[in-house]
Amino acid sequence: MRGDFVKFKLTVFRFNPANDPEPHYQNFDLDVTEDTTVLEALLYIKENLDESLTFRSSCRMGQCGSCAVRINKRAGLACKTFVKDVLVDGSLLVEPLDHLEVIRDLVVNMDPFFQSIRAVRPWRITDLTAGEFMGIPKIPPQDLEQMIENKQCILCAACYSDCNVIDVDRTFLGPAALVEICRFICDPLDASEGRLREAVDQGLFKCPVDQECEVACPRKIDIRRSVVEYLRYRSVVEGVGPLPQHRAIVQSVLETGGSVPVIGTPALDLFPEYIKNFEGEPQDEIVLFTGCIINRRQQPVAKAIIEIFQNNRVAVHLPKGQTCCGSPFMRTGQRDAMKPFVTKNFTIFNEYAEKGIGKVLTSCSGCNSTFRKDYPKLAKEYGIPINFEIYDVGEYMERKIRLNTQDLKPIKVKLMYHYPCHIMASGLEEEIYLNLIQKIPGVELVRVPKSGWCCGGGGGVRSAFPELADRLASRRIEIAQEFGVSGLVTNCPFCMLQFTRVLEQKEKKGEIVGFKLYDFYQLFAESYNPSYKSEKTLSFEDS
Ligand code: SF4
Ligand code: SF4
Ligand code: FES
Repeated sequence: MRGDFVKFKLTVFRFNPANDPEPHYQNFDLDVTEDTTVLEALLYIKENLDESLTFRSSCRMGQCGSCAVRINKRAGLACKTFVKDVLVDGSLLVEPLDHLEVIRDLVVNMDPFFQSIRAVRPWRITDLTAGEFMGIPKIPPQDLEQMIENKQCILCAACYSDCNVIDVDRTFLGPAALVEICRFICDPLDASEGRLREAVDQGLFKCPVDQECEVACPRKIDIRRSVVEYLRYRSVVEGVGPLPQHRAIVQSVLETGGSVPVIGTPALDLFPEYIKNFEGEPQDEIVLFTGCIINRRQQPVAKAIIEIFQNNRVAVHLPKGQTCCGSPFMRTGQRDAMKPFVTKNFTIFNEYAEKGIGKVLTSCSGCNSTFRKDYPKLAKEYGIPINFEIYDVGEYMERKIRLNTQDLKPIKVKLMYHYPCHIMASGLEEEIYLNLIQKIPGVELVRVPKSGWCCGGGGGVRSAFPELADRLASRRIEIAQEFGVSGLVTNCPFCMLQFTRVLEQKEKKGEIVGFKLYDFYQLFAESYNPSYKSEKTLSFEDS
C-alpha cells in the first residue's frame, strides 16, 4: 500500500438466508490509501474484521468478471474500482448486483443471466455442407472492429444489473445477450440463420437506448450505437425490422415533415427569423434548431429559450427551412433514410456559418446527440462539410456565455433533476444542468443517488411498446416522490411528453397529487421574467 491513509465508512449489504429473516446493512470503518480498490477493502474486512462476509472474486485484474457488485448503486467491478474515486462524503455503499437473486451477502445466482446468453446460441455455426473450404472471407472493417469489441465481453453481468428494461420486463434479453448476437452477426464464418429475427422477437426494439449498460460495462463496449442500433440497422436491411409503429413514424415525417402532428402554430411560424429584443449590441448570435416536438407542440419551450437569450443579450436566428433531425430513423435502424435530413440541416447550418454565425444550438437532447454523434459520420459519407459547432442550449448557457444570474428571481420549489439519456449520449455531464438549476434562487435541488433511471420515451419504445415505456416513466416518478420533492425538472421534450402522459394517468387514478413536471427552460424563463407563465406540456394523447 502506498500514500497517505484516509478514513472512510464502508456500508455492505448483508444477507444470510440461513440465519437472517431480512437483509440488512453493516458499517465498517476502514483506512485506505489512494490505490486501495473496493475488492481490497472487502478482502481486508474478511481477513481482519468479519470472516463471514461473502463475495466472489478470482483474477483481481478485471479479467474474470466474478467480482461485479453495485458500488453506490451502480454496477462495476470491485477489483477495478478505486475507493478514492467513488467515495461520497467519506462513505461507500456496496451491494449485490440487481435483478439476480441473492445467495448470500454479495453473491448472486447468475443462472438467469447465463440463460439469457445461452438463449442466443453464443457459438459459431459452421455450414459443413458448403463444400471445400475456399479461404477466409473478407470481413468489412466495421464488422471486424465490432467482432473484436464484442469479444471483450467478460460476462460480468454489470450491464444486466443496471439495465432499465430488465428492471420492468424480465422477458427482455438484456444487453450482454445482444452483444453476443452482434458478435455472430458480424462474423462471416457464422452460417446460422434467423439470429436477427430471434433478436427482434426477444426484444431488440424494447431498448430505449439509454446507455446505462455502457456506463456499467467495465470493457466500455459501445452497446447503444454499435450493438443495439447496429443490430436494428441490420434487421432493417434483412427485412425483419423495424416494427410497424416505427415505419409509421417514418411515413409521418415523409408526409408531414415532422415526427409528431402539429398542435397550434408551429414555433417556426410564431417567431421571426431574427430575434433581438434588447438595446445595444448582442454579446453573441446563435442559430436555434428547435426539433419537431418543440416546433410542433411545445412552442412555449421555444418561447422560453428566446426569453432566456434576450435576458442574456444573445440574438437568435431561427432558420425557417430546418427539418426533422432524423433521430427516429437512426434509433430504429432506418439509417438509409437519413440523407435528406443530414443534407438539408447541415447545408442550412453551413450557410449561417459562412455569414459568421457558427454556433448551432439544439433545444432537444435527441437532436443534439443525433447531430453530434450520427451526423458527422453520415456527413462524411455524403461529402457534406461541417463548418459550425453544435451546442445544447443548457451547455451553451453554462459554458459559452457569462450567464446573467443577477436578474434571476426566486422560485420556491423542491425539485429533482431528470438527466436525459440523450444529453449523456452527447457527452454532456449532469453537473452542467445541476449547476444551472442551482443558480435559480429558491430552488432546492435534491440529488438523485443514481442517475440513469429512464423515462422510457426514447429509442422508439414509446411508439411500439407504450406499456413498457409507461412502466419506466412511472418508476422514475415514484423514485422522485420517495425523495419528497414536489416535481421533476428536465430538459428533454421526449422525457417531458412521456412523464406528462404517465402523470396524467396517475392523477386520473388518484395515485398522485400535487406532483409537477418542470421544463428546464420554462423554469429559467419564469425566473427571469415572473410575468412569463410556464405552460403545461401537452401529452402524447393531445393530438
Ligand atoms: S440501453 Fe438501457 S435498456 Fe437498452 S440494453 Fe442498455 S441498459 Fe438496457
Ligand atoms: S457487456 Fe460489458 S457489462 Fe455486460 S457482461 Fe459484457 S463486459 Fe460485463
Ligand atoms: S476479480 Fe476478476 S474481474 Fe474482478
